[in-house]
Amino acid sequence: MSYERLKQRFAQFGQEQVFGYWEELTESERASLAGQATEVDLDELQRLLDETGRPTAEADLEPAPCVALPGDRYHDRTWVEARERGEELLRDGKVAAFTVAGGQGTRLGFDGPKGTFPVTPVRNKPLFQVFAEKIRAASNVYGVAVPWLIMTSHANHDETVKFFEDAGFLGLSREDVHFFRQGRMPAVDFDGKILLESKSRLAMSPDGHGGSLRAMVRSGALEKIRDRGVEMISYFQVDNPLVRVLDPWFVGFHAGQGSEMSSKMVRKAHAGEKVGVFCLRNGRHVVVEYSDLPDSLAGARDDRGNLRFAAGSIAIHLINTAFIERVAGGAVHEKGKLPFHSAKKKVPYVDGSGEVVSPSEANAIKFEMFVFDALPEARHPLVLETQREAEFSPVKNASGPDSVETCIRDQLKQFARWFRSAGVELPVDGNGIPLYRVEVSPLFSTDRESFRDAWSRLPEKPAIRDGLYVE
Ligand code: UTP
Repeated sequence: MSYERLKQRFAQFGQEQVFGYWEELTESERASLAGQATEVDLDELQRLLDETGRPTAEADLEPAPCVALPGDRYHDRTWVEARERGEELLRDGKVAAFTVAGGQGTRLGFDGPKGTFPVTPVRNKPLFQVFAEKIRAASNVYGVAVPWLIMTSHANHDETVKFFEDAGFLGLSREDVHFFRQGRMPAVDFDGKILLESKSRLAMSPDGHGGSLRAMVRSGALEKIRDRGVEMISYFQVDNPLVRVLDPWFVGFHAGQGSEMSSKMVRKAHAGEKVGVFCLRNGRHVVVEYSDLPDSLAGARDDRGNLRFAAGSIAIHLINTAFIERVAGGAVHEKGKLPFHSAKKKVPYVDGSGEVVSPSEANAIKFEMFVFDALPEARHPLVLETQREAEFSPVKNASGPDSVETCIRDQLKQFARWFRSAGVELPVDGNGIPLYRVEVSPLFSTDRESFRDAWSRLPEKPAIRDGLYVE
């Protein structure tokens, strides 16, 4: 589109300020600004601006039904059957791994893609390496190459790919790892005007993890894995090294119910815990954010005194490829069906005098899609309970809750449980936290049962000591 047409179009939407410094720009700056402006879907943005602030319709919420964890999932008949079904699908190459790694990671404040952040207690392996080793472990067990999709952002794409190249693709085959960039959305001020981050650049940010579905379609990544016979993707966040990347139980339950999208849940620790909750809204599965769940429901209890709305979302899903095509596919520029959420944020911007201002308070609205908004569109959705300590310890913050400290502590506790199941007690402090730093490679085992087996087969057991690495 020529500059004149672009400018005219932005003016029609009251967004001509975007070109306010055009006369001062060099040729290459003009080209980059015009390129960014072309990326913005002004109709979509206008629709969102019209909707912002409109109250959402009240709806009846009920707790979503969940498949509860039995006392012993290794022996419960339904769980054993699910696992066998899942293992068959994994052996048949029907499942791909999928990491969303396009976030900005502002809370962690780490200089680099979050997936390159070191998290393990002994070897300091970066998050991507932990996932790569879990994928390699599954490939070994199921005798099949598992494709791995990684969604990056414009900001971290090149650095992410370089990290993999420098690390020899972490022991995986290059052709099994598929990177694709997620989409972006412009940030607007409270009057709905698109902000500039510099005179020649719009303030653009990633369009949320929900953007992954349409980005997967648009980038061609979905088609690539469908061509390989993949029928479902195992979705997880880049910040949670405890995740069971390819979980035969989950796959089995998902397939057994004919679900198009399934999710894992953990029981909320307390009524006010800040996690989204699986609910039924007008009979359809949804995740209601903690801030949208009325206190009367968040604190409601059943006759046994348990929280009624207890199923906390931990952002682990199985999503069928055919469903992704349906919910986010179509012609390349056709809109995905997921709604956008708006959030007030601090966004640096160029003011009327051409100065860059770093606001101390929220000054802008960002728009993001959430992947769990696909849930109400899915046929036969399933919610499966898992143990928090076994599968969820995200690294969100630089310190305090959900930080690398809590994540290392949770990994150590998990390794200690595995050792205990093999008859080895690690020394612990008064809070049950191991006093030694130990680490088990995912290539040795990925859960308690496989640890016990692998440990029992070791001809010589290593001495238990601080810094022990089992591989
Ligand atoms: P978070 O909600 O923790 O956001 O993302 P974040 O951007 O990583 O971190 P903060 O809020 O700035 O501190 C949860 C998961 O979703 C991915 C993240 O990479 C992480 O795996 N994500 C989030 C995306 O891939 N794209 C997005 O636009 C947002």
